Amino acid sequence: MTAVRLEQLATVAQVRAWRRSQDANVALVPTMGYLHEGHLSLVREARGDGGKVIVSIFVNPTQFAASEDLARYPRDLQRDLRLLDAEGVAAVFLPTPEEIYPDGFQTTVSVGGVAAPLEGAARPGHFAGVATVVAKLFNIVEPDRAYFGQKDAQQLAVIRRMTSDLNLPVDVVGLPTMREPDGLAMSSRNAYLSPAEREAAPVLYRALQAGRLAYEGGERSGARLREAVAEALRSEPLVFVEYVSVADSASLRELEAAEGPLLLSLAARIGSTRLIDNILLP
Ligand code: PAF
Repeated sequence: MTAVRLEQLATVAQVRAWRRSQDANVALVPTMGYLHEGHLSLVREARGDGGKVIVSIFVNPTQFAASEDLARYPRDLQRDLRLLDAEGVAAVFLPTPEEIYPDGFQTTVSVGGVAAPLEGAARPGHFAGVATVVAKLFNIVEPDRAYFGQKDAQQLAVIRRMTSDLNLPVDVVGLPTMREPDGLAMSSRNAYLSPAEREAAPVLYRALQAGRLAYEGGERSGARLREAVAEALRSEPLVFVEYVSVADSASLRELEAAEGPLLLSLAARIGSTRLIDNILLP
């Protein structure tokens, strides 16, 4: 086995020293680890855009509610490091929770309207946790660019809003969702699915495609587009639907008349696993 070459940084001070030693521009790929092709596609794009790439791996406690899966969130650091090394990543930031949230920490970045519906409504406090940690990562790493997946479409919209509202000097790049051959969106949480649940899970993407088909057939009623997606989801008894949304892709306001760029998104539970997916229309 070849030795891992990428620099492993554990503290804010180490990251700042590393950043100061770079003359090239720097791209940040923030992650919670347990990396899959979706993460690696972000890394490859970041490398292709030039400069050095730093990846953060931090399972951020503040974006999990007490009832959520923080303790059982999948982790495999040695595998993650090997994958990142093979991709030519220059450095990885592996902070402890205490490094990010030292004693006395009491500041939160709270984004308004775009963070309120959908995942914001289903997971109170989630986007405050995401926005706070991403703002901190931007300030710690001072990257020129940062890369996020469209899989978490609302997260991307929240981070774009925050970056613009706070004049953070970072170019936020959003990249398409990576999917398994059967259409299931790649996610670290797919690891929770039992074989039967895994078999059922591609219905999420099929349902979004049913929405796309209705849209392409000329359907512009938000309610009927939502119903087309919901109906497809009902064909799979293992799936419990949390929401189906037809929203404006920038504001995420729910639409009755589906005009302009749309985000068609859904959240569903399969067993104890909560999955989300989305497509952009047209
Ligand atoms: O998408 C994720 O993995 C996380 O929400 C992020 C952006 C790394 C913040 O913790």
